[in-house]
Amino acid sequence: MPHRIAVIPGDGIGPEVAKVGVRLLERLGLPLQFEWFDFGAERYLKDGTILPRGFLDTLRRDFDAVYFGAVGDPRVPGNEHAKGILLAMRFELDLYINLRPCILIDDRLSPLKGKGRNELRFTVLRENTEGLYTGTGGVFKKGTADEVAQEVEINTRKGVSRICEAAFAFAERRGLARVCMADKANVLLHGHGLWRRAFADTAQRHPAIQAKAMYVDALAMDLIRQPEAYDVIVTNNLFGDILTDLGAALTGGLGLAASGNINPGRVSLFEPVHGSAPDIAGQGKANPIAMALTGALMLEHLGYPQEANRLTAAVEAQVRDGAHTPDLVPLLGGTAATTDQVADELYKRL
Ligand SMILES: NC(=O)c1ccc[n+]([C@@H]2O[C@H](COP(=O)([O-])OP(=O)(O)OC[C@H]3O[C@@H](n4cnc5c(N)ncnc54)[C@H](O)[C@@H]3O)[C@@H](O)[C@H]2O)c1
Repeated sequence: MPHRIAVIPGDGIGPEVAKVGVRLLERLGLPLQFEWFDFGAERYLKDGTILPRGFLDTLRRDFDAVYFGAVGDPRVPGNEHAKGILLAMRFELDLYINLRPCILIDDRLSPLKGKGRNELRFTVLRENTEGLYTGTGGVFKKGTADEVAQEVEINTRKGVSRICEAAFAFAERRGLARVCMADKANVLLHGHGLWRRAFADTAQRHPAIQAKAMYVDALAMDLIRQPEAYDVIVTNNLFGDILTDLGAALTGGLGLAASGNINPGRVSLFEPVHGSAPDIAGQGKANPIAMALTGALMLEHLGYPQEANRLTAAVEAQVRDGAHTPDLVPLLGGTAATTDQVADELYKRL
């Protein structure tokens, strides 16, 4: 049976990079069957569809993965379609692991003096279904001088334990020695106290892995000073959001950053970290590498580690001595190539 993959290119540069990603994945000759869906701003503006009723059930029943471009369009200023598409999938499909490798693929991409490929190799597992991102809370006396706004952070024993477990399992699978948990337990005593206890309990079940809990502010500083001290970082939704943008900046920028939204053994969603980049959409400037590396993450999830490595190796060779899009020119020098030129070279390498 082929693996069925729902491709949702979305808005802006999403379709430009999704086209490249699928082309590269098809080149690998695996039993993958792609089905394209047109959800995004264009469809929403045309007939009001965000996600059709029953679509999430179809994904659960009939698909192994979603390969997602990006959503966000200036014609929909409230971004309601984007929330309805992406957040609905993350929450409703219970994709509790947001996996974001922050791995440098070429020394020249590092903004840190003296830190290269050997030093910048950490992966963040961000809790993706609770924390401060559930919309729990409210506003009282809105718009008045007495306005009160409350945002509630949700931390459940089940939610925290399963993401901690996923971090240790990831370290074991990859042969990595260290897992660091980032919290703010010195101030957020209740919720982050739970993180400390759940992390310690999980660590006890994985005695071969070095486990360390840190305050997130100290970790942010240390990631700049000595990124080589970290292999796997596990943290909550908000801190993971922030730390992974830092990680992207340390490893070449948004044009290279890949991510997975995963529930092991269930349909999971793979997307580049970047958004729809309306400022460069339709100009052939989008870097397709984040989408290609996202494809490699998806292949690993589907059980094709060798092909994932092949794709990653092709990308590394491309960055080392191939054409690159304008975003990488300040870091790598040379002249800028188009999305399609980079895609053609990558295709030949595969
Ligand atoms: N997961 C998602 O779908 C997602 C994530 C972030 C933002 N967004 C949405 O995307 C829209 C634009 O947001 P933004 O501008 O803050 O973030 P963005 O990631 O789209 O762009 C930020 C900057 O990085 C550049 N950039 C991004 N991806 C690139 C690539 N592959 N190659 C070269 N340059 C690239 C852009 O040109 C822009 O200058 C908004 O509507 C936002 O809500 C969506």
